[in-house]
Amino acid sequence: MPSIEQAPARVVVLASGAGSNLVALLAASADPAYGAEVVAVGSDVEHAPALDRATERGVASFVEPLSAHPDRASWNRALADRVAAHRPDLVVCAGFMRILGATFLQRFSERIVNTHPALLPAFPGVHAVRDALAYGVRVSGVTVHLVDAGVDTGPVLDQRAVPVLADDDEASLHARIKDAEHELLADVVGRMVRGGWTVTGRKVTIP
Ligand code: GAR
Repeated sequence: MPSIEQAPARVVVLASGAGSNLVALLAASADPAYGAEVVAVGSDVEHAPALDRATERGVASFVEPLSAHPDRASWNRALADRVAAHRPDLVVCAGFMRILGATFLQRFSERIVNTHPALLPAFPGVHAVRDALAYGVRVSGVTVHLVDAGVDTGPVLDQRAVPVLADDDEASLHARIKDAEHELLADVVGRMVRGGWTVTGRKVTIP
């Protein structure tokens, strides 16, 4: 069972975009009782706003662009080295829009969390909100899950439903999903670092 040896737990966040989920984690971790500290923020995107959110709060950051490498394997090794340098107990992908390869997954086995803006297994991939709207679902939501080798296929940690409104567009639905996502991601990460977790096949138990 993965458990955390030190308190507060050391969390490295990977983000490619705006960083609102990162900000939610940073806000939660301001309370010492939360049990986690965001020790670094990494991105594949040079000028990702998420990096500014880290810098504003005095959190270390790093960039590892895929384009700086001859192939994905090399990028995965380099990214894993950058993350490992911060000795994380948990790696949280919060709007990180790249697939992590085998080298990375092995280094942080069962310790990588992702948040996805749909109720998996529906609508995996990078256009989850658009795809859910196009399908015409009445309910979508957010899934926080462990990362495995597939695209958004890892064991589910928790989910929250968000109703789709008749006049929703991609932006309005994503904004409401993000409201739920910020709470759920902070809640799941907090429970994991405080109590540990057990993975049995696809079933994950968090106290
Ligand atoms: C979040 O809604 C996250 O679930 C999504 O990107 C957004 C990032 O927002 N991730 C994916 O779609 C991954 N497939 P943020 O940068 O404001 O946290």
